This record gives sequence, structure tokens and C-alpha cells, in this order.
Amino acid sequence: MPNVHVIEHPLIRVRLTRLRSHATGTAEFRANLHQIAQLMIFDVLRDCTTREIPVETPLTTTTGAELERSVVLVPILRAGLGMVHSMLEVVPEAQVGMVGMQRNETTFEPETYYNKMPPGLREADVIIVDPMLATGNSAVDAATSLKKQGAQRLRFLNLVSCPDGIRQMNHIHPDVRIFTAAIDGGLNDQAYIVPGLGDAGDRYFGTL
Ligand code: URA
Repeated sequence: MPNVHVIEHPLIRVRLTRLRSHATGTAEFRANLHQIAQLMIFDVLRDCTTREIPVETPLTTTTGAELERSVVLVPILRAGLGMVHSMLEVVPEAQVGMVGMQRNETTFEPETYYNKMPPGLREADVIIVDPMLATGNSAVDAATSLKKQGAQRLRFLNLVSCPDGIRQMNHIHPDVRIFTAAIDGGLNDQAYIVPGLGDAGDRYFGTL
């Protein structure tokens, strides 16, 4: 699949197994999602460019680095929120935008109910965050909206994806790189990913 990077790590596989398990309760689900988000953000930002800056150590002056562009994390509400706080522990300088989307349970189409972005999207590395890439409709709409607001460098971080969503995203936004921990088989007739992990938002927030 073009433009998809599957982040492989034994710890991610182990944590994802806990997330998939029906027997995993809310507290354990949250903890594992936080840990995976931290493991994944390293790879997502791996090729961010830095510029050299001087730094004075207690002994002398040497050359250090700072990020060339700001990082903006954009969780798609609500499930994306479950990954952002732990990523901010790794990238505390990141700004956070939010896009609120819920899917219409009849048409499965996303409907936007909230959009709030920091200034400077044009110069930033913008990471859309949602644990699930199912039909791809929410991710596509979020990317379209972010581009209209000026974003030029977009990546999409998710935990579990499937070929339908990847195809849709690649088709409409071939420039948006997709980072995922797993590509599952497909969607059921309710547009849930199978085998998947169920409704990520419900499992994270305990609204089952
Ligand atoms: N959203 C989810 O939370 N889970 C899915 O399987 C699909 C969409």
C-alpha cells in the first residue's frame, strides 16, 4: 500500500493485543492506549527537521538542535483525545488543534461539530490523530478541512487501520502519510474494523 508506514515494535504488538481483548476494562484500555501513543509518536516525528542552535554547557559552547517547524497534534474527537495527552509528555512543545466529528449511525458519514486550530498551520508539521482508520471518511474530511485552513504538511496517526480506509485516504489525499500499528482485514456492515477492537471512544471513555 502506498504511503502507509506500519510501525512495528514488540511492545506495540503486546499493548495492542490488550486493547483488542474483549476482557480488557476501561482503566487498562486507557493505560495501553497511552503507552502505544507514546511509542508511535517517535516514529511519526522521526524525519522532522531540526536546525542547529548554539548551547552553552557548564563547560563550553557547543552545537545543539531545535525543531525547525512547530508540531500540531489534531485529535479527531472523541477517541483521538485518548492518544494526545500521553504524546504531549513526549512532545510538550506541540500545539493542539481539535476537530469534533461524529459519524451518522445511519449513513456512516462524518459530521463536524467542532473545529479549533492554533495559528501557523501553514508552517507546521500537522499530525491528525485517531485510533481507528475505518471507512476513512473522518480522516479525509479532517485533512480537507486542515488544508483549507492552510496546513501543508500532514500526517495521519492511527492505531488500527484497514484497506478500505487506507485506499480512501490515499485516493483523496495522496500526500498525507499514514502511520498505523496494524492493518486489519476489513469492515463489517456497521463499518467497524474486523477484528479491530470495537468502538475506541466507548472503550476509552467507559461509555459502553
Ligand atoms: N471507530 C471505532 O471506534 N472502531 C471501529 O472499528 C471503527 C470506527
